[in-house]
Amino acid sequence: MCGIVGYVGKRPAQSILLDGLKKLEYRGYDSAGIVVCDKGQLHLEKTLGKIENLERAIKNKNWQSTLGMAHTRWATHGKPSDRNAHPHTDCKGELVIVHNGIIENYQKLKQALQKKGHQFKSETDSEVIAHLIEENYRGDLGAAVRQSLSRLEGTYGIAVIHVKHPDVLIAARKGSPVVIGLKENEHFVASDVTPLVSHTKDVIYLEDGEIAEITPSSYHISTINNEKREPAINHVEWEIAEAEKQGYDHYMLKEIFEEPDAARNAMLGRVIPEEGLAHLGGLNMNDDEMREVKRIVIVACGSALYAARAGEYMIEKYADIPVEVEYASEFRYRDPVIDQGTLVFAISQSGETADTLAAMKEAKRKGARVLGIVNVVGSTIARESDGGTYIHAGPEIGVASTKAFTGQLTILAILALQFGRLKNMPFSTGQKLVKELKTIPQKIESILEQDKAIKQLAESYAQYKNFFFLGRGANYPIALEGALKLKEVSYVHAEAYPMAELKHGPIALIDRNFPSFVIVPKDSYYEKNISNVQEIKARDGRMIAVATKGDSNISNLVDEVIYVPKTLDLLIPLLTVVPLHLFAYHLAVALKRDVDKPRNLAKSVTVE
Ligand code: M6R
Repeated sequence: MCGIVGYVGKRPAQSILLDGLKKLEYRGYDSAGIVVCDKGQLHLEKTLGKIENLERAIKNKNWQSTLGMAHTRWATHGKPSDRNAHPHTDCKGELVIVHNGIIENYQKLKQALQKKGHQFKSETDSEVIAHLIEENYRGDLGAAVRQSLSRLEGTYGIAVIHVKHPDVLIAARKGSPVVIGLKENEHFVASDVTPLVSHTKDVIYLEDGEIAEITPSSYHISTINNEKREPAINHVEWEIAEAEKQGYDHYMLKEIFEEPDAARNAMLGRVIPEEGLAHLGGLNMNDDEMREVKRIVIVACGSALYAARAGEYMIEKYADIPVEVEYASEFRYRDPVIDQGTLVFAISQSGETADTLAAMKEAKRKGARVLGIVNVVGSTIARESDGGTYIHAGPEIGVASTKAFTGQLTILAILALQFGRLKNMPFSTGQKLVKELKTIPQKIESILEQDKAIKQLAESYAQYKNFFFLGRGANYPIALEGALKLKEVSYVHAEAYPMAELKHGPIALIDRNFPSFVIVPKDSYYEKNISNVQEIKARDGRMIAVATKGDSNISNLVDEVIYVPKTLDLLIPLLTVVPLHLFAYHLAVALKRDVDKPRNLAKSVTVE
């Protein structure tokens, strides 16, 4: 969603900010804006649409100012427009803010400020922050920001500049991430580390309720009540090249091709083949505590939720612990039962998804221990959980989650093994599972070798308007993931069902123009799945099968087959998902969609 980048230093800010905005594009946005502060004057430009529009608008400005900030907006309050884009100024045009998050009491504040004569220019909730700070400003910008923030309800990550403080940038956070980048004689502010890593790897993650006052040579972190804080300086491990396309046409394709590494990295140092064991260090639980877990609840959204659903099968089978997977967005509304033996996991690529965070807080409120399975290091879920594990998939830039999904599945398999071996799983099963897990990255690589064929297949299916995705057992969540991926990047309607559910209604839709993806590996459900395939065939349904290499029978029943290597039943999702990711990608490209930034979507959904 919205992105912030700010700079104070010795170099002209303009190009640093524009470059930073481009790195934030992946978050999803509909308008962009920039402001620099020069010799007591603000220079501001805001444009609807792509960053190129903004770039064009300021091409000849050549501002030399060394203080500035920029923003990408994803509309919540007020439609996407130049006027509603950030930054927003106060009445005098002396003070300017950018904001991520939602100010819930903005209407009340706006009315009160309007009564005092403040003139509002936009329909946004954010503009109220600029006027509130203006109202409280008596020469001390930090004090005015503090006083104003104490009146806000909702969430914010903000940055503020005032013309009377030409080398000061103020940032603050409550519920919406803010990172400070540290470098000699220059400092940065951003909503995540991506625009920072090309400048510095040393960062401070602001905590909720903290304010940073930064100049080219200093940074001062304090609380909203002006208590000084000594923040930890973190070193970001990501390399800038990891966040670049490296010759691929799109981030999504690059990230699908990184799925073998995502599985490898998630396993690295965490499985012990000779002992058939796994150990995820960051869980902060000893073996006895793990043995006492009677029930696991997993909260997540979107693809992370589907990974959790596949994980549910793995953990229940191998560790014999009942698992419930909950939509994070619904968790709070059903008064979930959390008892002593319940362990909660929050799964999130970004670690910033507002619904998942809210579910996690609700679980904590009820006394649960909450562990995070997160990709983005230092993200809010990672920091606010009681422990957990990083999937180490590296930066995922495409809005569609692909390699993170594979990383999440791998971690869930490892968790199943770790819990399982602490309970009743025999040594031989543990060894077999580790051995097979180790082969998964190579097996994914062999599927990726079929990229060309899958591309051709997708192109030949680009005219269809509807698809079913069908699977059974742990492959039903993979069907859900395949349908979600197709919808979000190609805008083609797709629905997923458990294989056998089709005959309970949806089969009425089947004809030659409604193709189905049937996930029918040679697992213990194979015969049952084949019966369902026969049912579709009998109704003249068109089918693409994802099947196990060597299954020659299947090609007699369906129109197309994509083969995946053989593996253990519960690891099959790690393989069957790969062709579905590739298919969605190629079909979207064939339809000329904006694959990495699909319409209406944001990479990290930071509003509830
Ligand atoms: O960052 P998160 O994993 O918490 O994000 C959750 C969903 O918003 C995300 O998976 C979304 O569904 C993706 N666009 C799916 O590709």
